[in-house]
This record gives sequence, structure tokens and C-alpha cells, in this order.
Amino acid sequence: MVKPTNELKCTFPSTSQNEALARSIVSGFLMPLDPDIEELADIRCAVSEAVTNCVVHAYKGTQGPITITVKCYDDRTFRMTVADRGCGIPDVEQARKPLYTTAPDEDRCGMGFSIMESFADRLLVSSHVGKGTKVTFIKKLSEASYI
Ligand SMILES: Nc1ncnc2c1ncn2[C@@H]1O[C@H](COP(=O)(O)OP(=O)(O)OP(=O)(O)O)[C@@H](O)[C@H]1O
Ligand SMILES: [Mg+2]
Repeated sequence: MVKPTNELKCTFPSTSQNEALARSIVSGFLMPLDPDIEELADIRCAVSEAVTNCVVHAYKGTQGPITITVKCYDDRTFRMTVADRGCGIPDVEQARKPLYTTAPDEDRCGMGFSIMESFADRLLVSSHVGKGTKVTFIKKLSEASYI
């Protein structure tokens, strides 16, 4: 097992204000790596999508804990997990399809997983009904460019 060069784990309640907090935490974690601005924007967007899913789907109408872990490695691989202990997803394969949503009446368009996937090198989703969901986002950052 390769040891990460840095890692962080945090847990916070599933309020919508904490979506901004999660983005800030992940951005702050990435800053020492001097990420490309576009890659940083993509990762911030993936954080939003994953955390929003916990707020609006996992704990629909209630609140519960969201745990984010972030790790980075010598070769600039960034690995993030976003986990909840909410309702779970009965059919992950179906949920990952573009435009699939169980909440069309709430202005959802079913693109969250597709967006996360488009920004990741690998996106893993594991879920158990009644127990929760864990999304793992893996991306190798491009080399830092110093002026
Ligand atoms: N953490 C989660 N817990 C429970 N169900 C989830 C979770 N994340 C996603 N889902 C289910 O997977 C479906 C697809 O998620 P996805 O993020 O792709 O689209 P959406 O959230 O419905 O819409 P959008 O992200 O475009 O606003 C959701 O409609 C929901 O049924
Ligand atoms: Mg979503």
C-alpha cells in the first residue's frame, strides 16, 4: 500500500451550507499542490455534486453525517471519498446513467454522476440500501507549472 503524502478526513452534518464548506476544505487541501485552475474548478464541482447528493437524496427530509476523506500521493494522484449513512441506492448502475433521476420534480436533471465521472480518471460508487453510499473520485493532477 503506497503511503499518501498528505491526507485529511472530516465529518459534518448534511446541511446545504456545508456544501460550500466541503468545497473550501478540498480546495485548501489541494493548494500546496499548485493545481491547474481548470482541474481545481472540476474537482470543486465534483465535491458539490457528491455532497448535494448526500443532502438531497441520502438524507432526504432529514439530516445525517457526511464524511469526506482526501489523499494525495507522490505522483500527484488525488483520491477523494464522500460517504453518507443515508438511504442507499438500490441500483447503482441505473443511477449512474445520464439523465436518470428519482427527483425530477425537485429540479434535478440526473447529471450529477455523469459530471463527476467526466472530471475523474475513475469514479467508483458503492452503496447498500438502508446503510449508505460511498463515492470515490480519483484523478491524477497535471504537473504544476511554475512561471
Ligand atoms: N448519496 C446518495 N444516496 C442515495 N441516492 C443517491 C445518492 N446519490 C445519488 N443518488 C440517486 O442517484 C440518482 C442519480 O444521481 P445524480 O447525481 O446523477 O442525479 P440527480 O442528483 O438526480 O440530479 P442532478 O445531480 O443533475 O441534480 C439520484 O436521483 C438518486 O436517486
Ligand atoms: Mg445529483
